[in-house]
Amino acid sequence: MRTVDLFCGAGGMSLGFQRAGYDLVQAYDAWEPAVATYRRNVGSHVWHHDLKDVFTVGPMIAALRPEIIIGGPPCQDYSAAGKRIEGDNAGMTRAFAMYVSIARPNWFVMENVRQAQKSRAWADATEMLKAAGYGLTESILDASWYGVPQRRKRLIVVGRLGERHGFLASALAAVRSNRQTVVGDVLDVPQGHFYMRPFGGGRGVRSVAEPAPAIIRTSRERPWPKYRNNPHPHDPVPLQEAAILTQDQIARVQGFPEGWNWGNATSRDIDQMIANALPSPLAEAIGAVILARQAGETIPIVEGSFAQWLQRRGRSAQSARNVKSQCNRARRLLGGRTLTSHALEVEALEATEDFQRLETRTQSNLRAALRLHFEFLTEKAERRGEGRRRRSGAQLAANELDIALA
Ligand SMILES: C[S@@+](CC[C@H](N)C(=O)[O-])C[C@H]1O[C@@H](n2cnc3c(N)ncnc32)[C@H](O)[C@@H]1O
Repeated sequence: MRTVDLFCGAGGMSLGFQRAGYDLVQAYDAWEPAVATYRRNVGSHVWHHDLKDVFTVGPMIAALRPEIIIGGPPCQDYSAAGKRIEGDNAGMTRAFAMYVSIARPNWFVMENVRQAQKSRAWADATEMLKAAGYGLTESILDASWYGVPQRRKRLIVVGRLGERHGFLASALAAVRSNRQTVVGDVLDVPQGHFYMRPFGGGRGVRSVAEPAPAIIRTSRERPWPKYRNNPHPHDPVPLQEAAILTQDQIARVQGFPEGWNWGNATSRDIDQMIANALPSPLAEAIGAVILARQAGETIPIVEGSFAQWLQRRGRSAQSARNVKSQCNRARRLLGGRTLTSHALEVEALEATEDFQRLETRTQSNLRAALRLHFEFLTEKAERRGEGRRRRSGAQLAANELDIALA
């Protein structure tokens, strides 16, 4: 897929998508050390430019005709480590939505800190993206379940034109690994334990049999006197027996491969680039999930409560199971797509050759299954809306149904 990476940094996200098989055609960042690092390691398709300049860059990106736009707008205005005042950086989340709305690729992926989800900037961006015709899946993914030895929870928003909200959530959840990746899986730390500056008063010393905490710029600082004098009571070994990870090791924990060439960047800039990155194994997993859906190889899981809903409407357990499997069959014929109305789904279904070859009776069963599932989702959305109305006493916003369908 032709891919553009916005706010590409040193290239963590691009690297993951490249490894998943995406064709990176252009990447942008305004910070020279990051641009130079990206160029050296990922490719010469990177451009040093300020993405505030929507008038210049917007038409350029549109002319590239990307099939997907990916990116992690700067998060300092939201992150738990920052001041949480929405300023210029939060505005870049809006800029990301503008670029997507201008170029209208089939897909986009935006990464940010969890706090961004509650921000005014993300609310504005959501409005733009919905108006541009995107269905959104908003998931909080913990990188340690996607091959990264680090508990790093990030907001991952995947959008696809014409889709229903929440369309990819079950597929992203389904590729979680069976166990968390731990530091010992990627690093050889002879001491068996390491110290990493605790953030928010947690434990400083960890075993290599655990994931590391989320990497920030100062993760490899030596313990401050305050911690040395008063170590956490649950540290598994005394502080002096724990290793301090090197910059190379921290980079590995963030998914940068061995031998990543940082050139002549300053040590502080390298720490910053590492901390900024979306770990490439997580990016690769997200990229693979999108490719599988694009190829029609996965379908969204039908909610367990659908069968119960059918039974409450008088169907036997067997009949409810049949409707559910007919719904899955219709969804497979649709290549995993979930369109925004029942009428659109039936139209798309009837256009497929496989559907046209089915017996008339099977065809009506599949149409009916999709209709029932749509009614189920609509009712669920209305119930949630009712609940919210009761709680707030406020009128539902016009888009409430969409949000609740997610
Ligand atoms: C969270 S980092 C992105 C990290 C990247 N996705 C990765 O995986 O390595 C945000 C990036 O946005 C860049 N940035 C901030 N403001 C910008 C602007 N106005 N125009 C272009 N890039 C900007 C920063 O230099 C930083 O590299």
